[in-house]
Amino acid sequence: MNTGGKIAVIGAGTMGNGIAHVFALKGFTVSLIDVSQEQLNKAIATITKNLDRQLSKGVITSESKEKTLQNISTATSVAAGVKDAELIIEAATENIDLKLNIFKQLDEHAPANCILATNTSSISITKIASVTNRPQKVIGMHFMNPVPVMKLIEIINGYATSSQVTRFIVDLSKQLDKIPCVVDDYPGFVANRILMPMINEAIYSLYEGVAGVEEIDTVMKLGMAHPMGPLQLADFVGLDVCLSILNVLHEGFGNPKYAPCPLLVNMVTAKKLGVKTGEGFYSYAVTSSKELVVSDRFKK
Ligand code: CAA
Repeated sequence: MNTGGKIAVIGAGTMGNGIAHVFALKGFTVSLIDVSQEQLNKAIATITKNLDRQLSKGVITSESKEKTLQNISTATSVAAGVKDAELIIEAATENIDLKLNIFKQLDEHAPANCILATNTSSISITKIASVTNRPQKVIGMHFMNPVPVMKLIEIINGYATSSQVTRFIVDLSKQLDKIPCVVDDYPGFVANRILMPMINEAIYSLYEGVAGVEEIDTVMKLGMAHPMGPLQLADFVGLDVCLSILNVLHEGFGNPKYAPCPLLVNMVTAKKLGVKTGEGFYSYAVTSSKELVVSDRFKK
């Protein structure tokens, strides 16, 4: 696909705005689509803030910042937004019914040759593809948060994905200066099949009183050179997202080793979802400070 080609991104949340950012920065024309105009305005503000961050670090020039913003248009209608798109990347909320409904609409409105990708972190690509009339053109393109920084794109082949489509997405990922890794479509793919049991085990260690929040995260940060400890990472990803992925693993493999820790279930029920709600294992009430503050609930 050539620079200047048209991409549509469905969903203007954290992942959608990051995906729009990286494509637009590389010269692609991006149509960012969301049902909420307010969410679209927020996304453009976030992209501008993240471009400014890159500008201040000397990663981009002010000219490329302006060009990037010019490359992005917004739409609240799927039909209008996906017209002429060569590739659509869906990054809506991680809810299976919502995603199946979106893919039915995309199949109806997207040009016949258009590839339909999903940024799902755990929903079966094969299942999503099955509601379209082009399952060979449906593929997983799993970006990592924060998208402008993280190098990996986990590419997931559905059961029917054609090898030409996989090659196209691998080449395109390289054009974005990302590193593609191709995997097959089984629960959690690779990233979350490995990440989520680690996070769950960290939560079990806290729940069983083996150690406190800071100790668990410090062991993994300093001992294994992880940039964030597993409990901080869980807050960053969202505890509701962690729970839903663990449920996919648990149901998909039928193996009790994936059963979510009861503490995680309680926290999600109590709406302590991490950064996005201001509290999880840590408290995010003071946003100006980079220092991590353990939530009162877990202070010793
Ligand atoms: N846009 C652009 N640049 C950004 C950015 C953004 N949204 N967020 C951070 N950056 C840049 C900063 O400008 C900074 O650049 P320099 O290195 O040039 O100075 C760099 O990234 C580091 O940022 P900070 O100094 O602010 O903070 P940090 O050193 O704590 O790094 C972090 C932040 C990159 C998020 C780091 O903590 C990290 O790598 N965390 C782990 C992230 C991770 O594991 N992500 C995967 C989550 S799982 C997932 O996404 C998939 C799933 O399915 C659940």
